[in-house]
Amino acid sequence: MIVKNYHNSPEICLALNIAWYDYPTTAKRHQVANKDTEVQGILTDFPKLDSVYINAGIQNHHMIFTHPLNQKDIVEEMTTNLLAPVLISQYFAPHLLKLAQSGTYTNIFLTSSSLGYFPVPFYPVYCPTKAGIAAFAKVMRMQLEYTGCKNMNVVEVVPPYVDTELNAAHRQQTDALQGGPQMAVQPMPLGEYIDRFFEALELTGADNSFKNEIGVGFGAQGAKVWNEGFQKLLNPSGLID
Ligand SMILES: NC(=O)c1ccc[n+]([C@@H]2O[C@H](COP(=O)([O-])OP(=O)(O)OC[C@H]3O[C@@H](n4cnc5c(N)ncnc54)[C@H](OP(=O)(O)O)[C@@H]3O)[C@@H](O)[C@H]2O)c1
Repeated sequence: MIVKNYHNSPEICLALNIAWYDYPTTAKRHQVANKDTEVQGILTDFPKLDSVYINAGIQNHHMIFTHPLNQKDIVEEMTTNLLAPVLISQYFAPHLLKLAQSGTYTNIFLTSSSLGYFPVPFYPVYCPTKAGIAAFAKVMRMQLEYTGCKNMNVVEVVPPYVDTELNAAHRQQTDALQGGPQMAVQPMPLGEYIDRFFEALELTGADNSFKNEIGVGFGAQGAKVWNEGFQKLLNPSGLID
């Protein structure tokens, strides 16, 4: 498993058997040009790496007609939330597949959002990037099936609205748009989310593999709606089981 800034402590990572990766500095945060080299570097340092969790995300609030966002911020949001996860997944995929084919269980986790399933008006870029992650995880899983490999999981983590720093810069505005804090949808406390995430994570299949989606609250409902609706419609096409 790779983390960045895990309490800034390589020692904790070592104790938890988590690969320590010192993520590029702020100046390089939105560059994607070197992701293949970075991934190769990680795999050179950690050749037995069996699980990768791609979780970084940012969220901007803007109004398309009255207060549009500047191009740089839109590009950064799309890069962080969608382009980088797609590239990183692609660069890790051959390694994780090869390891799985040689008998080690491997996993790639991608964080989407309930807002990928239920778009809201406040986040014109965030919602489509998260819908993109949800779609990408499904496509990657379908292509994994083509390989016949059963030891690898593509897991989509689907959180609901959780009380973190993600929306700190615009929570007041989005609460106001919902009629004020009393009326606004309230976030799930982080501790509750973590407990419920691990409960959902531990609901593994008969072969101990993770579920396709680890959703909590509205996130779980979004994935359920997709599975019960769209997937059912796709089944007869023969594209998916
Ligand atoms: N909170 C929610 O309501 C909610 C709901 C659904 C989905 N999610 C998703 O859950 C994930 C985690 O979000 P969070 O709620 O924990 O928010 P958070 O507290 O703001 O954490 C976001 C994380 O992403 C990292 N990050 C942002 N831009 C990056 C970049 N360009 N390169 C590398 N790392 C970057 C941040 O790193 P630094 O600490 O270095 O800035 C931070 O660790 C995100 O994908 C988010 O979209 C959150």
